[in-house]
Amino acid sequence: MTASDGRLVGDLAKAIDESDFAWSLVLVGEDQRDKLAALTGDLLGKPSSNGDGKQITSGYAYWGIGPTIAWAHACADPFYLVMKQSLDSFTRRWGRVRGRVGEGFHHVSFGVGTGHKDRLILEHLLEHNQDLLYLPVDMSSEMLRLGTREATHRVGPRGHRVVPVQLDFSITDNLAELRDLVHRLVGDEPVLYSLLGNTLANFDHDDELLANLTALARPQDRFLLEVATTEALSDDLARDAVEEYSRSRAYREFVTSALLHNTDLTITVDAVQFRGSVEGDRALKVKVVYQNQTGDDILMMLPDRTRVAFPDRDTIRLYLTRKYARRALDGIVRAAGMRKVTGTHSDFAVPRSAQGFGMDLLLLAPGDPVPAPRPDDDVARVIWEN
Ligand SMILES: C[S@@+](CC[C@H](N)C(=O)[O-])C[C@H]1O[C@@H](n2cnc3c(N)ncnc32)[C@H](O)[C@@H]1O
Repeated sequence: MTASDGRLVGDLAKAIDESDFAWSLVLVGEDQRDKLAALTGDLLGKPSSNGDGKQITSGYAYWGIGPTIAWAHACADPFYLVMKQSLDSFTRRWGRVRGRVGEGFHHVSFGVGTGHKDRLILEHLLEHNQDLLYLPVDMSSEMLRLGTREATHRVGPRGHRVVPVQLDFSITDNLAELRDLVHRLVGDEPVLYSLLGNTLANFDHDDELLANLTALARPQDRFLLEVATTEALSDDLARDAVEEYSRSRAYREFVTSALLHNTDLTITVDAVQFRGSVEGDRALKVKVVYQNQTGDDILMMLPDRTRVAFPDRDTIRLYLTRKYARRALDGIVRAAGMRKVTGTHSDFAVPRSAQGFGMDLLLLAPGDPVPAPRPDDDVARVIWEN
């Protein structure tokens, strides 16, 4: 880089820091035309009555301004329990965990969402590192804009220390590039990575995703993982999970908004269905599908203007989510090559929620599990950490 290039970067940073206008400098990691082609491909799947053909995979559910606004509405809906509880109780749960993070950390947030949780994390990290770099990573540039503004409003860091990255983090090659970028920016200084809001549960190959994301962490780094959990697994509880999601109209509007914005279907939220099942010994699984219930075979126009058949009773999988068995969490973490440093659990404290549903927030570090506590270990500390 020449001296004049260096000056340009410095001037840009200064202009952003000193302006009252809400500039945001976003690193766009992928060609958005390729993303549109991938979405189109996913909507060309074979007919299936149970959501195994056409689908909208995780990042696309939030991609674009319509889905972003719909997501923000759903998060504010008291009937969308998982997110409502997750957001409401995050201050308390993060308060229990943050003391174990350490000092001098930068923050890389996978899936910024509305940015409320990142804000709390930044507030804490900034107390120990005024020069912190904040890299929210999200597939949706609109979500990045919304979430980053909320996360940094009045808490800092300074504008040029905020580097939003538009990237699909489910693609392994993207993560290799991201790793290089992060390491170039922070050197050997430690990074707190986070994957919050039960985002892990939205991926078909969630175990693979977790392993790929946590592989970015070096020994000095930490990884904060938040997942929805259940004490037990049964068909009855799978039905309770379905019931929990199906209550919120705002949630139905969110899950259909990608269809509304990328096809010419006339959307009715009554055609949204929830299918619950038990996924082995690890989770309750909920598939959210859109079913053609018109009684007719219809044609649907895709983003590239091709028309495909959407036969009567055919489905499009809109969203996938899970509640992980609490007893399966250690295995999931271990399989991703991580160990638990500390963790906290909170039950859903609402009468409408099924017994045993809650959220777990885990602080992880690379490496083998810590040995079981010796009998002479401080009992109060052991209880507190588990
Ligand atoms: C369930 S929301 C969680 C938001 C936030 N972390 C919270 O806890 O409130 C998932 C977030 O991850 C982003 N996301 C989902 N799949 C993604 C992918 N494959 N690549 C990048 N971002 C993705 C979405 O745009 C959204 O911001």
